[in-house]
Amino acid sequence: MKQQLITNFYQLFNRTDGLTYFSPARVNLIGEHIDYNGGYVFPCALSIGTYGIIGKRNDNIINVSSHSFGKMYQFSLDNLERDPLVSWADYIKGVIVALHKRGYKITHGFDLYIHGNMPYGAGLSSSASLESLIVVMLDDMFNLNISLEDKALIGQDAENNFVGVNSGIMDQFAVLAGKKNHAIMLNTNTLEYKYVPLELNDYRLLIVNTNKKRGLADSKYNERYKETRKALSILKPIYLISNLCELKPSILPQIKDLLDDVIFKRVRHVVTEQDRTIKASNALINHNLEMFGELMIQSHESLKNDYDVTGIELDTLQSLLMKHGALGARMTGAGFGGSCVAIVNKDLVKDLTLKVLESYKEIIGYEPSFIETSVSDGTHKF
Ligand code: GLA
Repeated sequence: MKQQLITNFYQLFNRTDGLTYFSPARVNLIGEHIDYNGGYVFPCALSIGTYGIIGKRNDNIINVSSHSFGKMYQFSLDNLERDPLVSWADYIKGVIVALHKRGYKITHGFDLYIHGNMPYGAGLSSSASLESLIVVMLDDMFNLNISLEDKALIGQDAENNFVGVNSGIMDQFAVLAGKKNHAIMLNTNTLEYKYVPLELNDYRLLIVNTNKKRGLADSKYNERYKETRKALSILKPIYLISNLCELKPSILPQIKDLLDDVIFKRVRHVVTEQDRTIKASNALINHNLEMFGELMIQSHESLKNDYDVTGIELDTLQSLLMKHGALGARMTGAGFGGSCVAIVNKDLVKDLTLKVLESYKEIIGYEPSFIETSVSDGTHKF
């Protein structure tokens, strides 16, 4: 890949001094839709993601070209406006704006070539992969010495305030902090985290993309964000909490009458998912994969019935994965399409893959994709 990046960079910009980087995708094992409610999440970085090669310029022009999105696109440091025709470049502009906001000086333009090898719209966070790539590249290029936490917050700022999705911190943090063969237990309230070895022994992590075209995912996501903010504004003065994940499941019967039915269901998901995530990371530490699988199933049920973010494609895929032998399976990421993650015995993988592929196609009308990847390190130069 390095040679390919160098060759393309030379062909595009006629220069040989580019620096090469890789930024992973991420998969979340459990802890869904609670990173904007101060909860625990349990993601890991993947070996697929976004490659990039960059070289500084002497003027304030930024030239970007992308293998996946084609065409050279040019903009200037003096004009960092969104461009609806080139929306992928918004992630780059958004990061620069977020850096400027914090006082970091990006004083020169640059030439940049990007080559992603991950599926887009698959719930594996291509946007955080790209944002983190840019933060790490610019941190190096301008000697900014930004901490890991701040890099993640800068990526999130780009996403929240430039792109306009009210996402939490999980994706950027997982992409930046990833560690080979480890999951990250992240407290999204304090940003404290620890690595948990992903010791699956005879089991394999399977990621399967529904291949559903992304539709209204961002607006639905923002709707869930608003619903949980509304719940917090009602419960905060009564229970003196600063986020919903401080509530324990035992309090749910008490708060039922304080909220309307839909909002109560959203809160029930958040509160029980927090509990499941803590239990799941302990289960992994204690090598109790059966328990981990069981919690994944419960998580999917809660995301389906209480949080209402799954849909026919994810539900069909999840139940087929379970039917054909997975120890646990659930939707991962924002939902509304995207992927499922499953734990499957290595001896069953081949048979399960064939059966799930066939039945899913019969029910949904097109095939899902089984994604070949492994658990890898976070964004880095190579
Ligand atoms: C998206 C967001 C994350 C997180 C997940 C759901 O990936 O970017 O911050 O909220 O959805 O867990």
